[in-house]
Amino acid sequence: MAPIVSIRKMTDHVGEEVTLEGWLYAKTGKGRLQFLQVRDGSGVCQVVVFKQNVSEADFEAAKTLTQESSLRVTGVVKQDERSPGIPGGYELDANKVEVVQIADNYPISPKEHGVEFLMSNRHLWIRSSRQWAILRIRATIVQAIREWLDTHGFLNVDTPILTPSAAEGTTTLFEIDYHGEPAYLAQTGQLYNEANIFAFGKVYCFGPTFRAEKSKTRRHLQEFWMVEPEIAFCNLEGLMEIEEKFVSHIVQSCIAKNAEELAILERDLTHLQRVSPPFPRIHYDEAVAMINKAAAAGELVPGYEDTVPAIEWGDDFGSPHETYLAAQFEKPVFVHHYPTQVKAFYMEPEPDRAEVCRSVDLLAPEGYGEITGGSERMSDPQKLITAIEKHGLPMDAYEWYIDLRQYGSVVHSGFGLGLERTVAWICGLDHVRETAAFPRTLQYLRP
Ligand code: 4AD
Ligand code: MG
Repeated sequence: MAPIVSIRKMTDHVGEEVTLEGWLYAKTGKGRLQFLQVRDGSGVCQVVVFKQNVSEADFEAAKTLTQESSLRVTGVVKQDERSPGIPGGYELDANKVEVVQIADNYPISPKEHGVEFLMSNRHLWIRSSRQWAILRIRATIVQAIREWLDTHGFLNVDTPILTPSAAEGTTTLFEIDYHGEPAYLAQTGQLYNEANIFAFGKVYCFGPTFRAEKSKTRRHLQEFWMVEPEIAFCNLEGLMEIEEKFVSHIVQSCIAKNAEELAILERDLTHLQRVSPPFPRIHYDEAVAMINKAAAAGELVPGYEDTVPAIEWGDDFGSPHETYLAAQFEKPVFVHHYPTQVKAFYMEPEPDRAEVCRSVDLLAPEGYGEITGGSERMSDPQKLITAIEKHGLPMDAYEWYIDLRQYGSVVHSGFGLGLERTVAWICGLDHVRETAAFPRTLQYLRP
């Protein structure tokens, strides 16, 4: 019996007989030859079924194969430069074809389909080559995230998903019934991370987070994955240095490991190749001045038909502002010191200027907007109590969090990187809905 070999490993078996198990992606045939494009999850391989090399029954069976039919083929691996599928040109010269199941009228054909149709068939759509490429790049990103943190002194300590209180504003909470008591799906693991640094120094949590976002945008999901590193004895400047190394490692890992997938997506790599430390840093004040200058001059937002909208000092940026700002730089850009009023309660205000806080967002190029959000945390217990009161949050829920500032409080900082936004950026996608196998958006809870 020939060994079962995945398409990705086929290049190690040139001249040998192997068995391939997979699904028919496409087929062409003429007379005594059938060309089957077979995918097995690891890649796509051309299978050549030549009438004289297989039994009569197998040749007829190959002819009946429809898109997505499952099959098992045995044959000899050949190298042929002209062969599509595996880079370098490899194909399988079949001597046996076994149909496992004939697929009846697979609904997704290579023609264009509407988003509505594709999303309602997401369970099938994930088999398409673009979706395959995206989800494989997502897996590389996850790997690169863990790899960098695990080798830079961070301990992975995961945080709860069922939580008793808000951390990122009360408007996006998903409430659930916790045995008669209200509880919420975690918006972030940060507050628990802050406890964990006092035990482990540098930690990260990485898991699903939830936000009941009420508006439809290209960047917001209801459920998304966030990696959140948190570091003791680290200030805002130290945080930016960590972020730029971390993000550069993620991008460069994808370029190194996913050439085939990026090519399927026809991703222009020019911007991505430039992603290396240091990243430019601008103060919120400077960002506002840049925006308002462009607004006064009637400049267009790159990729939009609209002009740059003016902004009032103190307001948060909208997508057009972020897109315009990011387009002024060759690399991702840090915007730091946002107005305290638009940021979360736990951010450290600037000592001599409390209306801005020691926060930083990283804006990705090409209109992908905010990829990370982070800050130096408030380390003084009294200041924190005042901030909690000011935000109208229930003090008793945060007692333990205030406690952290009573026993060896230190300057500390952290950030959160949104996995799906990072996938959308690296893959060059218009919308975050393609970045998860089963994305949860305002419109789509099913399948
Ligand atoms: O800026 P955010 O809200 O920051 C926090 O949650 C902090 N507690 C993180 C920290 O400091 N530990 O979210 C962080 C990132 C954003 O920059 C964005 O990439 C992503 O999470 N994000 C979303 N991604 C998809 N859909 C949503 N609804 C998102 N909301 C935030
Ligand atoms: Mg943010």
